[in-house]
Amino acid sequence: MCGIIGYLGTHGAVPVLLDGLRRLEYRGYDSAGLAVVDEDDIRVLRAAGKLSNLEEKAWQTPLSGTLGIGHTRWATHGAPTEENAHPQTDASGTVAVVHNGILENYSRLRHKLLEGGTPLGSDTDTELIAQLLGRETGSLGERVLRVLPRLDGQYAVVALSREEPDTLVAFRNGPPLVIGLGEDETLVASDVTALVARTRRVVFLQNGDVAVISRDGLRIVDPHGRPVEREVETLDWDPGRAEKGGYRHFMLKEIHEQPDAIRNTVLSYLNADRSGVALDGLGFEPERLAGVRRIHLVACGTSWHAALVGKFYLEELTRLPVEVDYASEYRYRAPLVGEDTLVIGITQSGETADTLAAMEEAGEAGALLGTICNVRGSSAWRTATARLLTQAGPEIGVASTKAFTTQLVALLLVALGLRANRGLSDHRDTEIVAALQRLPLAMEAVLEIDSGRYRTGVELITAADDSLFLGRGTLYPIALEGALKLKEISYLHAEGYPAGEMKHGPIALIQEGFPVIAVATAIPTRDKLLGNLMEVRSRGAALIAVAEEEAAEVSRLVDLVLPVPPVSPMLQPILAVVPLQLLAYHVAVELGLDVDQPRNLAKSVTVE
Ligand code: F6R
Repeated sequence: MCGIIGYLGTHGAVPVLLDGLRRLEYRGYDSAGLAVVDEDDIRVLRAAGKLSNLEEKAWQTPLSGTLGIGHTRWATHGAPTEENAHPQTDASGTVAVVHNGILENYSRLRHKLLEGGTPLGSDTDTELIAQLLGRETGSLGERVLRVLPRLDGQYAVVALSREEPDTLVAFRNGPPLVIGLGEDETLVASDVTALVARTRRVVFLQNGDVAVISRDGLRIVDPHGRPVEREVETLDWDPGRAEKGGYRHFMLKEIHEQPDAIRNTVLSYLNADRSGVALDGLGFEPERLAGVRRIHLVACGTSWHAALVGKFYLEELTRLPVEVDYASEYRYRAPLVGEDTLVIGITQSGETADTLAAMEEAGEAGALLGTICNVRGSSAWRTATARLLTQAGPEIGVASTKAFTTQLVALLLVALGLRANRGLSDHRDTEIVAALQRLPLAMEAVLEIDSGRYRTGVELITAADDSLFLGRGTLYPIALEGALKLKEISYLHAEGYPAGEMKHGPIALIQEGFPVIAVATAIPTRDKLLGNLMEVRSRGAALIAVAEEEAAEVSRLVDLVLPVPPVSPMLQPILAVVPLQLLAYHVAVELGLDVDQPRNLAKSVTVE
């Protein structure tokens, strides 16, 4: 979703802003812009479409100045045009702002400003913030404090004024903002990806914080102007990991990073002799867990698919009942949640608005709040008391891959940790832990398979308008995930279904050549899945299966096997998703689509 970068330093602001925006591109956007204070005037450049359009303008209109703000916009209020791109300025050209989020009192504010004679140049809610700031007097920080009570909704805003060429003011309520403290320069951004190339010393702003960044330093106050202290943290992210490293797309690179990401996640949470899971110090302490009688998993999208697999892990290993909810539904359905509930928000970004709201709702009801999250210091990280970091590193491709497989690993580790807490561990735990440590090797074998193997799959899928992904048990969520990957990046319609449901409706879709992709590795219900596949085969379906190479009963039945090495049933979902990620990737490449930034999608969905 939208990206923010602000810069105050000694270098020319424009190249720094453009570099920051480039690094934020992965979040998804449809226009971009920047503003700098150049000789006591605010100069704004904006362009619809890709960042290269803005870069072209910056090339044609060189701007100097060491203070500036930049933005990539994902349209909410108003079409993705140049007029609606950020930064937005007030009518007098005194103030410019960039904004992530949505103002809920947009219509009322807009009406009032128009009634008061303020001319508006865009359809955005962001312009209203600029106009309100422009009508106030005093320093930029003072103006912000006076305008804050008039803003309802979610916002992360960075503002500058031509009257204060040495100041940026950043404030948030909802979407994240992080300040980067560099050598003779301070940056502010919507996520750390935009900063790590310049500094790793960061301050995460909290809701209600107003940060005044000047050449004298950083001052943070609350909405009443009272000073607040925020910790300076040092990030452990390697900036090189946010580069493509020779791969054609971030998605492909991230698919290939999965063995390492899994290795790092597993090793981070094993005990000293690597025979069991140690969750001590992560907030999952025995005394906190003693009263837990049920578990709720809340998440969105791919993370929700991880939760569906997590339900199997947690119920089987802890014998506690587990419910899985879309966060956007949970927050409005008055769930039965209380002090006896462990609620785990699963989120790559840690900033998904619905997941955060669901977690907050559960927290207010007294639940023990946990998170499985890929970004240390994110909002989910701060909201939870029990926290497990997936060690996937920055995920830039919009379609989630390595975050998903590390979420599955994390859920299995949490299940094993809770099982140990409940005194249920036996020899099986040691076997699972040993198998988890071997899993990266099996995944490397899947990644080594020649891409030519996917050719037939690409042909079968692109020859049709729709396809079905089928699975059973723990592999049903993998069918959902395979279908989502294909939809997201190839724009071809696909549905995931539990194979046993075929006869209850979807089988009506099957006709000659209709692609059916089955997740058919060796779980106990595989024979039943094969029965379902015979039914679609006899109606003309083209069949692709993810299965072990040696499974003759599968290869006899299908047109193409995407092979995976044999692993224990619990680990099969983690492995079986990889060929489906690659299949979706090859289809999108074949169709010439923008794999890393699919249309209409945002990496971090910070609005409801
Ligand atoms: C799909 C995808 C999305 C996210 C969803 C939740 O490839 O990436 O479906 O999984 O938007 O995001 P997080 O995990 O950041 O909460």
